Amino acid sequence: MQVDQSVVLDALKVVRDPDLHQDIVALGFIKDLKIDGGQVAFTIELTTPACPVKDQMRDQARAAVLQVPGVSGVDVQMSARVREGVSGDGGRQPLPGVKNIIAVGAGKGGVGKTTVAVNLAIALAKCGSKVGVIDGDIYGPNVPIMLGMKAQLITDGEKIVPAEKYGLQVISMGFLTADDAPIIWRGPMLHGVLQQFFRQVSWGNLDYLVIDMPPGTGDVALSLSQTVPVAGAIVVTTPQQVSLADSRRAVAMYRKLNIPPLGVIENMSYFVCRNCHDEADIFGRGGGEQMATDLGLPFLGRIPIYQPIREGSDAGVPLVISEPGSPAALAFMSVAEQTAAQISIASYQRSTIPLTVVR
Ligand SMILES: Nc1ncnc2c1ncn2[C@@H]1O[C@H](COP(=O)(O)OP(=O)(O)OP(=O)(O)O)[C@@H](O)[C@H]1O
Ligand SMILES: [Mg+2]
Repeated sequence: MQVDQSVVLDALKVVRDPDLHQDIVALGFIKDLKIDGGQVAFTIELTTPACPVKDQMRDQARAAVLQVPGVSGVDVQMSARVREGVSGDGGRQPLPGVKNIIAVGAGKGGVGKTTVAVNLAIALAKCGSKVGVIDGDIYGPNVPIMLGMKAQLITDGEKIVPAEKYGLQVISMGFLTADDAPIIWRGPMLHGVLQQFFRQVSWGNLDYLVIDMPPGTGDVALSLSQTVPVAGAIVVTTPQQVSLADSRRAVAMYRKLNIPPLGVIENMSYFVCRNCHDEADIFGRGGGEQMATDLGLPFLGRIPIYQPIREGSDAGVPLVISEPGSPAALAFMSVAEQTAAQISIASYQRSTIPLTVVR
């Protein structure tokens, strides 16, 4: 007996995407549905490479189809196609091949922006995405140190070829200057460098391009907002009240610049002893989540203070590489998933907002 396609699709409607709150049939995630007698095969194409959700959905889908009378076997493949973020407008032209640009910023220096940016980027790559990193800290480039890179940039005759490490494509001012050379420029030149990082670099096809923002508010964010459409900004904060106050200003700035804040990460949230795994709230805990709630933003997660994070940054081996199974690395993985989910939600919402006719 040949099982009917519509009956299979009907059965699959019980499986819902937990982020988009819609069933996977309505979302158009079912691809390559093939039915041969009682054998059913199809692919579920997600919008994020989120790892754990994937297994859960595969199991749910298989179970749902096995319930259909006449079905004897189900083969479910999982794939992910990250959707395009914001489209361009006026002066902001999208980068060809680059789907989502994410800024990692904060209201102040030293809260862990670069640490979060590199671990987040690697976490996204580990889940199967194509990821690039731009070191937006033109005056104090730290990305090459944290990724353990000493790259000599080459060109392909026309454009600069990004350097590669840990599966990431990377560009930094640190590749273009000697280690201790001071970088002294005027504002307009900084804008020029950023423009070059976007337009003169041969970025391949990227799902996410992560920008490590420099400390302080201001010129890089402004320049970024004028150059490319940015899917959103993540704001890194520490739990102290002073950091939270600065973070609120950063969120306000991004909103003003038309860069939607995607969510808040609380870094150095609590201390985990590497020996006894005891936890202590050195700076307090929960302030970041409260701030996110107050500002109407998603809370993307908290990262503990953990000595190997600092050691990994100094040694050029980020924690998600050096200790992938540690609770702190899992916290980075979870933050990456939440970030991917928020981008997917934002692009889904944009695509379904009904167009209003302006007269
Ligand atoms: N969760 C953490 N646990 C332990 N050390 C951390 C953690 N997060 C960051 N650090 C360390 O704190 C220092 C500052 O972090 P980082 O350079 O990422 O901050 P930043 O916000 O990018 O700073 P800047 O404003 O100077 O760019 C680094 O030495 C880093 O290794
Ligand atoms: Mg930094």
